Amino acid sequence: MKIKGVIEKTNFLSSAEVSSIIDKVLFLEPVWNHYSCFHVLPYGPYPGIYKNIDLKFYNKLLDENFRETYTKIKNFVEKFLNQKIVVSETDSRPGFHIFGPGPLDYNYVNYHIDSFDKHGKIITFIIPLTCPNKLIGLNYILDKNLDLTKLKNSSNHKDIFFQEYKSGNLYIWEGKMIHSICPFILNKGEYRITLQFHVALHPMKKEGILFY
Ligand SMILES: [Fe+2]
Repeated sequence: MKIKGVIEKTNFLSSAEVSSIIDKVLFLEPVWNHYSCFHVLPYGPYPGIYKNIDLKFYNKLLDENFRETYTKIKNFVEKFLNQKIVVSETDSRPGFHIFGPGPLDYNYVNYHIDSFDKHGKIITFIIPLTCPNKLIGLNYILDKNLDLTKLKNSSNHKDIFFQEYKSGNLYIWEGKMIHSICPFILNKGEYRITLQFHVALHPMKKEGILFY
């Protein structure tokens, strides 16, 4: 495990790769799934939003459209974690969170840790694709004793840190870090799109499991 800081950041996709992915995500709009005021491609294993999607359909579609990116991701993760990785067949491929098109004033914070029905340590990976302004990023908290209920609608607190996102970068953190999307505003026609996935590392297993 080589996460040096709290959040590891690395240049991952070229701007040409990013544009090509965004074009495909927008083209696939008819098969987006919807959750309150944002969209997902497809629903993932998130508590509260998981739905019984046709996993076979979505994985085939995602593989057809994003195969090169998935290969790049798997190769990177194996090198980064120095561990063999298998892509979960019972979960979705890495998927997308899509906010927009604006105008949108997204003012909801939800401090949480990333935990799923997988055993072992969870590592979270996010690749922002469209970052139209400096508010696009992640809020996170290092003080585990903080009363999170008091933070529900606040980004302005001395214990809340902010990681700005840059398009094409890959951000990596341990799922147990407390975090939330940072509230943001989109102007007319703008999107906030991220590509996300996780890896579960079980101490007794040789292979890490990669899933949405
Ligand atoms: Fe999360």
